Amino acid sequence: MKAIALVKTGPAATAFEVREIPKPQPQKDEVLIKVAAFGLNFADVMARKGMYKEAPPLPAILGYDVAGSVEAIGENVSTIKIGDRVMAMTRFGGYAEYAVTNANAVAVVPGNIDNPSATALTTQYCTAYYASAEMVNLHEGDKVLIHSGAGGVGTALIQYAKYKQCEIFSTAGSDTKLNYLSSLGVNHPINYVTHNFETEIKNLTASKGVDVIFDAVGGKSVKKGFRSLATGGRMVCYGAAEMNNKNIFGKLKFALDFGFYHPIMLIGPAKTIIGINMLRIADNKPAVIQRCLEAVIQLTLKGVFIPTIAKVFKPEDIAIAHDYLEKRKSIGKVVMEWS
Ligand SMILES: NC(=O)c1ccc[n+]([C@@H]2O[C@H](COP(=O)([O-])OP(=O)(O)OC[C@H]3O[C@@H](n4cnc5c(N)ncnc54)[C@H](OP(=O)(O)O)[C@@H]3O)[C@@H](O)[C@H]2O)c1
Repeated sequence: MKAIALVKTGPAATAFEVREIPKPQPQKDEVLIKVAAFGLNFADVMARKGMYKEAPPLPAILGYDVAGSVEAIGENVSTIKIGDRVMAMTRFGGYAEYAVTNANAVAVVPGNIDNPSATALTTQYCTAYYASAEMVNLHEGDKVLIHSGAGGVGTALIQYAKYKQCEIFSTAGSDTKLNYLSSLGVNHPINYVTHNFETEIKNLTASKGVDVIFDAVGGKSVKKGFRSLATGGRMVCYGAAEMNNKNIFGKLKFALDFGFYHPIMLIGPAKTIIGINMLRIADNKPAVIQRCLEAVIQLTLKGVFIPTIAKVFKPEDIAIAHDYLEKRKSIGKVVMEWS
């Protein structure tokens, strides 16, 4: 089968090679999927730049989410049948014509959800659902700040916060993205390039702050976010997009930029910081992934979740697709489709 291997870290143009490799075989709890579409995730960009410590050694087949049809199942699998059209979370291995994954990370896709949307639901929407429904439990009237709102996870968070009738503040880096945020129903779109979001939140909330923040930017954004939380506020940290330096001093500076938080600093003002890593959850709590996949599908059927697909690329254009995501051109999910 064909697979796209990450052979070298660095610029996208020289990082990938299409290779012929053996088709994987499912183990007893696994499912083999003939991949129709696979998604790109920002973590892939970090892995390609050599800044994602959980990435497999090179040459590596990246990829967290696929949509396609089931070709074979392991002897213990009873929830999925050969021939089912499915969406699945893969722990790498998604950039290929076939992928295997644990049956707990697989869900049957209803007929009216297309393959590109299914890839978005698998990673971006599951992450957003886990963060906003399971970790935070948004309530009506909550003031919610969503960073990178025009991205894949950001769009999903906005759609869920809208469903919960929250007042939504969201940041993005261009006017086109701000218009997109308005089209999703964001009450207060904030251009963080031209405006300091901390000052904006202060002005817009009469210095009271927001109840919930979702942050995958990391560094100073977290420190400013902590100061922007209202009493009882919760901040979900789930990424570090701002990390752009591979050397130890650069990493150290970035880590220091987050700030330090002793429990006393949380108890006193009644603030909470929550960390999310869906890979760890998939490894150690697979039932949670299954629950999130099912919930996300139900919310899609209800019309709460409507994935935005930024662009669909052919696999041979992987370098262009990576650049597109890395250079912040995408609005919504970037998808690759085998023809
Ligand atoms: N912890 C987990 O389990 C988990 C799971 C899924 C995703 N994530 C994280 O969630 C974030 C969103 O993922 P996604 O796949 O949906 O990507 P995405 O949001 O569609 O794309 C990344 C966006 O991040 C914003 N951004 C902020 N700082 C950036 C920087 N320094 N460089 C590049 N972009 C920057 C850009 O939007 P603006 O132009 O508006 O700044 C960019 O378009 C990523 O950080 C990812 O690693 C974490």
